[in-house]
Amino acid sequence: MDKLDYQSGFGNEFASEALPGALPAGQNSPQRGAYGLYTEQLSGTAFTAPRHIGRRSWLYRIRPAAVHGPFTPCAHASFHNRFDDAPATPNPLRWDPLPIAGAPTDFIDGLVTLAGNGGPGEQAGVGIHLFTANRSMQHRFFYNADAEMLVVPQQGRLRLATELGVLEVEPQEIAVIPRGVRFRVELPDGSARGYLGENFGALLRLPELGPIGSNGLANARDFLTPVAAYEDRDGEFELVAKFQGALWRASMDHSPLDVVAWHGSYAPYKYDLRRFNTIGSISYDHPDPCIFTVLTSASDTPGTANMDFAIFPPRWLVAQHTFRPPWFHRNVASEFMGLIAGQYDAKAEGFVPGGASLHNCMTAHGPDAATYAKASTADLTQPDVIADTMAFMFETRRVIRPTRQALELPQLQQDYADCWQGLARHFDPGRP
Ligand SMILES: [Fe+2]
Repeated sequence: MDKLDYQSGFGNEFASEALPGALPAGQNSPQRGAYGLYTEQLSGTAFTAPRHIGRRSWLYRIRPAAVHGPFTPCAHASFHNRFDDAPATPNPLRWDPLPIAGAPTDFIDGLVTLAGNGGPGEQAGVGIHLFTANRSMQHRFFYNADAEMLVVPQQGRLRLATELGVLEVEPQEIAVIPRGVRFRVELPDGSARGYLGENFGALLRLPELGPIGSNGLANARDFLTPVAAYEDRDGEFELVAKFQGALWRASMDHSPLDVVAWHGSYAPYKYDLRRFNTIGSISYDHPDPCIFTVLTSASDTPGTANMDFAIFPPRWLVAQHTFRPPWFHRNVASEFMGLIAGQYDAKAEGFVPGGASLHNCMTAHGPDAATYAKASTADLTQPDVIADTMAFMFETRRVIRPTRQALELPQLQQDYADCWQGLARHFDPGRP
């Protein structure tokens, strides 16, 4: 594939034109656009949102987005936002990876909703889905009016052809597609698998750095937004919309990816998780996992995220007098984890790439017995490097409710909680 061009930065006022002079100078909406283009504004936040939060873009396109047939309901067996169709359980849950189907399945067909909370109606919460696909989207396009979408490929690359340009992501990279942006997913490797987070709440943004200072964690310049690229294609196409938790379809006689130029701050982006500047303890004990936050979606309570996206990347462990893996804990927030590559340092086995785990509000968890035995007797005079790993977490303030289909999947591990049952009693009041 050709190497793609990107614009660097997070939430900047980007500007890009695929034909010279397609962007109007000095104003957003001229009487007639260059090259006969139509002008359209795409607003991702309230018009009156504070400047540092507000996101909108101006699009210069061959036809306005309104040119399509009527929407009619379109059934999908496994992709939805019904997070109350099964009782939430305080049990820790873990799943093996989903196999990639044999029948032709594109990115939309292959979505399976695992869990979630809140919903599009209240504009808060998160939907958590897995995807498997073995076919590029053909003659169909998708947009999500309910949520911005955080795409986490785990196996196989994705080529995301969007209204605002083309993004390619491989495992250990992520992509974020804003609400409303139309796109098509192609599979350069023939198949793909991964995780999809729907963020119903405030747009994802970089976390504050506090005493860390002006650098560290994910650096703004490593976020890449596509340049304008358009298709001038007539034909029979389908536009699939996700609206209030359900899918709808409309016919189109042309490709909706017909934006020749655009400028603004509301656009898709990608980020390579391997660029994350990991911060940790160089003395004793390790900090809370918020130190690993890549992106955060604020709620209306300061410091309490609607959703945090955190990663556990390769890193050195050097802390002394310390149990080095993540400790045993219970959390008011709820934690969904996935493993993109390698091994996660708190589990000796059972959590494999493409798998998932869920530890909800106040559900006790931590290292398994094998990991505890190893780490509690490790030689702390030597540093330890975790070289082959990339795990991630969606952490939310609301309980993450598994769907009925998630609880009925054969990949749900029935014996997950057994991993802690080997933690023996060591207490001896006569041995301080
Ligand atoms: Fe945890």
